Amino acid sequence: MHGKEIVKIFDLSIYLKKQQEIINSALDKWLPLPHGPSGPVVDAMRYSLMSGGKRIRPILLIAAAGATGGDQKALLPAACAFECIHTYSLIHDDLPAMDNDDLRRGRPTCHKVYGEAIAILAGDGLLTYAFELMCKPELTQNISPLLLKDAVFLLAKAAGVSGMVGGQTADILMEGQPVDAETLSFIHSHKTGSLIQTSVEIGGLLGKASDEELYHLKRYGESLGLAFQIKDDLLDVEGDQEILGKPVGSDNRNFKATYPALFGLKETKRRAQELLEKALSELECFDDRAEPLRSIARYIIKRDR
Ligand code: IPE
Ligand code: IPE
Ligand code: MG
Ligand code: MG
Ligand code: MG
Repeated sequence: MHGKEIVKIFDLSIYLKKQQEIINSALDKWLPLPHGPSGPVVDAMRYSLMSGGKRIRPILLIAAAGATGGDQKALLPAACAFECIHTYSLIHDDLPAMDNDDLRRGRPTCHKVYGEAIAILAGDGLLTYAFELMCKPELTQNISPLLLKDAVFLLAKAAGVSGMVGGQTADILMEGQPVDAETLSFIHSHKTGSLIQTSVEIGGLLGKASDEELYHLKRYGESLGLAFQIKDDLLDVEGDQEILGKPVGSDNRNFKATYPALFGLKETKRRAQELLEKALSELECFDDRAEPLRSIARYIIKRDR
């Protein structure tokens, strides 16, 4: 080595900003435009989708593919599909029949602007559009049809009763009920963990990870997904509404089963830290290309929004 060795330091904020820009412009380009009698539902879909979410799930998918050296560009439709499903889950989660919240991503919630009927339909529209986008022939020419079929299967499972919908069901049914640690972990790892874990898994799968890499990516995603919702619970207690862009104290008002309610703040933070360490340990067999995944994990339990 001649002269000074140049050490490249990974900067997560630059990485996140760049990925967010890529995802936002892809979503904007690929989402339908409002016209004709169904125009208002497309308006509502775009209103909720294009309003500054962190885009963590699509970024995780792309970062997981990057960790195994996969073609990240080809995976953009699948990454955007996750954001569509996640945004649908937020629209429905905010409805009066569920958490009854008025603020999301720094703006009035979808049903406050468009009414409940259109908000429900906008959620339905985003859920189904996710699969349309993920399988769109002109966007998926560089993906093996067999791998794509497996990815669609995993995504449907993670979004449905075995995953997010199942967790949301338990979340609603357990409002005001005493919960044990096992039930609470079920709620959190399903309502939020499933989509996060599967975004990492699909990134690995479509990025052609080896069986061993895929195994560790799944375990990383599992710990990270649970840690993500634990941190979300903490932000509902300790966060700042201005920064969060959604109400604080919503869980308390709804008598939700949360980690702070069951374990207290100190033990909740200890558990989040433990999950972070578990997630990081799953990445030990990866090289520098997994640096984004490592940094995202640290960020997820440090974030203020
Ligand atoms: C909020 O998700 C809801 C949960 C599943 C915890 P995010 O914290 O990812 O929200 P956005 O997408 O950045 O708005
Ligand atoms: C929601 O959990 C998880 C979803 C599937 C949307 P929360 O109800 O805690 O999410 P926020 O706090 O409203 O974003
Ligand atoms: Mg909820
Ligand atoms: Mg909520
Ligand atoms: Mg919450």
